[in-house]
Amino acid sequence: MLIFLDTANLEIIRKAKTSGVVDGITTNPTHVSKEIKTTKDFHELIREICEIVDGPVSAEVVSTDAEGMMKEARELAAVHRHVVVKIPTTPEGIRATSQLTREGIRTNLTLIFSPAQAIFVAKAGATFASPFIGRLDGLGQDGMELVRQIRTIYRNYGFATKLLVASIRHPMHVVEAALAGAEAVTMPSEIFHMLFNHPMTDLGLERFLKDWSKLQS
Ligand code: G3P
Repeated sequence: MLIFLDTANLEIIRKAKTSGVVDGITTNPTHVSKEIKTTKDFHELIREICEIVDGPVSAEVVSTDAEGMMKEARELAAVHRHVVVKIPTTPEGIRATSQLTREGIRTNLTLIFSPAQAIFVAKAGATFASPFIGRLDGLGQDGMELVRQIRTIYRNYGFATKLLVASIRHPMHVVEAALAGAEAVTMPSEIFHMLFNHPMTDLGLERFLKDWSKLQS
């Protein structure tokens, strides 16, 4: 299972990377807007992230028409070989993705909220499909059910598109995504750090160290 961090913050990425278990990064315009002052700095930020992590780095287009998306996608793909171009799952986004797939540009289709959208995402040849499960849960729907449905559909037809579970709100989302067979999950650093911990681990370690300290050295 690929573990991605959902952030554009260089410090957070550098720190988390030392764990050895971060496979890539996903960004979005909201994350990026917190890290740079002008759009001119966008490509440089993405390049820096790509140089830190040895894996896919999703960078999102902001055009809403297919031509604009394709232009941005080609420019982003040229920034670094780690770049995966993030594209919104709209009719224009699907059109752009079909063409970018033919050009060999890797894509991550974002803002997926239905299994029907995910079918077109796979048919367009996207590298990753990103259902937003936390936002669905927030509407009183079952985000993880969407993940299971997409997993079944992709398996039924042998689609190569990887399921990237996004909009994670708590560690159990990660566990459930793994149980559902998702190839990848992306999460904020707070959730990433929560995954390492369990109070019984801390208590157990405290006891072991206390007993060890009774020995003479
Ligand atoms: O990758 C998903 C992320 O970009 C947005 O998730 O947490 O804003 O719902 P969130």
